Amino acid sequence: MTKVALLADIHANFPALLAASEQIQRWKPDAVYVLGDSINRGPRPRECWRHLVKMRRERHWKLIYGNHEDYVLKFETEDAPRSGPRFEILQFVHWTYQKLSREEIQTLRSLPAQIEEHLSTGQYLRAVHASMAGLRAGIYPHTPQEKIREMIQPAPDIFCVGHTHKPLARQIGQTHVINAGSVGLPFDGNPQPSYAKIYTTLDEVRVEICRFDYDRSQAIKDFHETRFLDEGGPMVKVIYHELLSAQPLINRWNQSYEEKVLSGECTLEESVKDFLKGIHIPKFSADLKE
Ligand SMILES: [Fe+2]
Repeated sequence: MTKVALLADIHANFPALLAASEQIQRWKPDAVYVLGDSINRGPRPRECWRHLVKMRRERHWKLIYGNHEDYVLKFETEDAPRSGPRFEILQFVHWTYQKLSREEIQTLRSLPAQIEEHLSTGQYLRAVHASMAGLRAGIYPHTPQEKIREMIQPAPDIFCVGHTHKPLARQIGQTHVINAGSVGLPFDGNPQPSYAKIYTTLDEVRVEICRFDYDRSQAIKDFHETRFLDEGGPMVKVIYHELLSAQPLINRWNQSYEEKVLSGECTLEESVKDFLKGIHIPKFSADLKE
């Protein structure tokens, strides 16, 4: 039997990564894939990145590239905004960029966007961040079967993704499609991190989505202790509420406010304040919020 673990979308949540790491090391898989968005949109990018690089070196974890690594690397280019409303919206990305050393930026840049290999039990496995349709084209629980079929072409035996922060395990034709969900920022209303375990034999593939508890109060404190909330710009408050609510909020803010902020109709600060008025903090976070 071969055992494969899939982790995705850690988003700089260090307590969640440590807890996932411990679970995985106890399980002793033959391979571990980390499917991108390891850093950014969270308070501890440097700690997470160093831990992952260490796991790659010592335990051969395989790391790939996600759209958030891409956002951070954009600050390497001349045309990245350095002031004005567009910069303010991206200030949290710039904060992450500044937390990483030149060497760490280089290792980010060298990540592959895709890994493919044959498992020792014979199955052909491919890992990408979102899907074959692009770095941000995610496979969601509501994505129609026919659409998923197109998004995994050329279809392998096992297709592994993250990006949506919503776990999924489905068989499409001969392919096992597995979305590991998110370690750092689950978006399905359940604040427990998720990861996937795959068991393969010569004639069988079995998938298990695991959810677990971790020190969420520390993850919330990290937003304050690292000064992410103070230094990362107003959008960090939106990210903080994503962690508290286990719901995606940046996209919702984008739809309602991005144009207004870019055109000068309102400031980013005002838009975030107005947006958060409508966000309900669920019971599971009410006592943790500072
Ligand atoms: Fe993500």
